[in-house]
Amino acid sequence: MRTAILISGRGSNMVSLLAAMAAPGYPARPVLVLSNRENAGGLALTGSVPTAVVTSRGREREAFEAELDRVLVAHGVEFIALAGFMRVLGEGFVRRWQGKMINIHPSLLPSFRGLDTHARALAAGVRLHGCSVHWVSPGVDEGAIIAQAAVPVLPADDEAALAARVLAQEHSLYPAALAMVTGGQPMLPGGDGALACGWAP
Ligand code: GAR
Repeated sequence: MRTAILISGRGSNMVSLLAAMAAPGYPARPVLVLSNRENAGGLALTGSVPTAVVTSRGREREAFEAELDRVLVAHGVEFIALAGFMRVLGEGFVRRWQGKMINIHPSLLPSFRGLDTHARALAAGVRLHGCSVHWVSPGVDEGAIIAQAAVPVLPADDEAALAARVLAQEHSLYPAALAMVTGGQPMLPGGDGALACGWAP
């Protein structure tokens, strides 16, 4: 499956996806890393995978998404993995790629959709937090959940500590989930079983 990874920032999830995709037999192949921000740090970490920038700043949504679609089609993209892509996509674009586009979100959906998930989890006093891989649908962070990983919220946690614990789970959950949906069969971090990961001290 010819796959594009869309990023906006440092690209640590992109790096973990690219590393997994390099393994023999992995069902998705990276054909493009695309950013909506020209200064995204992840653009320097793609190795031999082609990169593209489609700027979103200061542009109408329709023009941005039309160009995004054009660049994806020009690269023969069949599947999209959003990896820290921080621009909300409009209904037309989402419907066009529905069933072919997934996202990773730093919370246990349906809790804490949107931004600042770790600060909101701390403020809410939840004892479990985590990350979710889900299909992208027109409602923001509302698509069907594919896989989740949970971590504890520890008494001394601040936002940075909690974010780091969740991010470590993102880096194993996302490659496993992408393999599952593009390959049609489970390819799990720890062997067979349900696609859920847990935190280990
Ligand atoms: C990740 O934590 C990802 O889950 C989150 O942004 C971070 C990107 O980090 N995504 C969202 O919040 C999407 N709404 P990365 O650039 O190092 O992968």
